[in-house]
Amino acid sequence: MQPFFSAWGRKLSLGLIALLLLLFSWSWWGVGAKLDPYTETVLGLSGEVSHGASLFALNCAACHGEEADGRVGPSLRGVSRRRSERFIIQQVTSGNTPPMPQFQPDPQEMADLISYLKTL
Ligand code: HEC
Repeated sequence: MQPFFSAWGRKLSLGLIALLLLLFSWSWWGVGAKLDPYTETVLGLSGEVSHGASLFALNCAACHGEEADGRVGPSLRGVSRRRSERFIIQQVTSGNTPPMPQFQPDPQEMADLISYLKTL
């Protein structure tokens, strides 16, 4: 009987450890979503409007229009009054809303884009 019980005891404690690890990684994930380092870096930078404008012309104007007044994609006029910077960063980098592709601008480029969008 002794080995039987201790085997179960081991399984139980391994199970508990696995459960704790799972809970821990969940909560870690939650923190990670709020403090995503890319987003935090972008928010900490000051963008350059003119560079943002050329990035926009190159990457975004085909869908959102040369004047950002909408074509395939919606008009982005006044978008920064409707949407938070976090939302815009997520929108540009996630690829969650096809046909808008997933972009991977480096943090400075993302900050430049945002500062351009703020002028619309
Ligand atoms: C292939 C076409 C396409 C390209 C290229 C594109 N977009 Fe979009 N974009 C869309 C579409 C379509 C939507 C609407 C997505 C949805 O919500 O379903 C959208 C939505 C958005 C929104 C959200 C607007 C709102 O009011 O919610 C933002 C901000 C945005 N795009 C910014 C950009 C930026 C910045 C770029 C360039 C880096 C870009 N897009 C390139 C098609 C495109």
